[in-house]
Amino acid sequence: MHIIRRRGWEMPESQATPEHIFLNRRTLLAGAAAMTAAASLPRKANAQEDPTAGLYPAKRNEKFALDRPLTPENISSNYNNFYEFGGDKQIASRAQMLKTRPWTIKIDGMVEKETTVGIDDLIKAMPLEERLLRLRCVEAWSMALPWTGFPMSKVVAFAKPLSKAKYVRMETFLDTAMAPGQRSSFFYPWPYVEGVTVEEANNELAFIATGIYGKPLPKQFGAPIRLLLPWKYGFKSLKSITRVTFTDQRPKGFWEALQAREYGFWANVNPAVAHPRWSQATEEVIGKGDRVPTLLFNGYGEFVADLYKGMEKEKLYI
Ligand code: MTE
Repeated sequence: MHIIRRRGWEMPESQATPEHIFLNRRTLLAGAAAMTAAASLPRKANAQEDPTAGLYPAKRNEKFALDRPLTPENISSNYNNFYEFGGDKQIASRAQMLKTRPWTIKIDGMVEKETTVGIDDLIKAMPLEERLLRLRCVEAWSMALPWTGFPMSKVVAFAKPLSKAKYVRMETFLDTAMAPGQRSSFFYPWPYVEGVTVEEANNELAFIATGIYGKPLPKQFGAPIRLLLPWKYGFKSLKSITRVTFTDQRPKGFWEALQAREYGFWANVNPAVAHPRWSQATEEVIGKGDRVPTLLFNGYGEFVADLYKGMEKEKLYI
């Protein structure tokens, strides 16, 4: 997962190797300096009222039941992937620099009418519900989390895509002043991008989260609005969305742009297909320390398996 790419003239992209194998010392040092400075900023500087706070907790949708206990909040809140704030898991304090109001989401591309919607107007227009969902990271760890949000199909309906739109491309903010990772890790293809087919977006399991643990999303979880695709590796579930584009071109994700051999468009969970550098057969349950078998489609086959019928030739599992 964790990749730092050298500049083109130092090494061809085809040889780019993940961080577990090499690190660019100069980048790391620059990054560490920027992050130390960032971490020392006063936290209150960005503290803002959240006008939607009164909407939480929302009623739980019992259809999404778990086979394991929820990950405790103090653990999941301090073990996050949010490369905009650094390549380690302890980004929670740095992520407090994320300014979540005002926040708008641009909806563009192949839609009836392009528009920009304010986050509070969008949340208030949506039917909030709570879902308990598993999250399986491509790095072979997992959590079970109580998200609040609404089905992604509601966003599709809101956007009114044209029939020729086949994909939904989504983008995270790009703000080097706010996100030290975007400043220091300049080899990454910022902003973070991910995409799904319109059909996947309309699947009832595709979820847009605006809250967790019965309250608005804390910043490290991707406030104020993020995607959740529980049957795919966690890197598809992009955080802090600012743009949703309907298109007929298959979007290239952030990780795919960096290392296509390891991170593809579909990225469905499959314990039988190893990542090029590690097995995906089991996962570490964060907070418990034990390993459990990984399930095909992360256990959500009844919702999504039909989406991939007749697609045997596609690389569905990286
Ligand atoms: N979205 C953005 N914008 N930046 C990121 O670095 N990391 C992804 C995904 N979404 C990431 C992102 C990865 S690799 C995972 S596993 C999940 O977020 C982690 O979500 P969590 O920190 O809420 O557990």
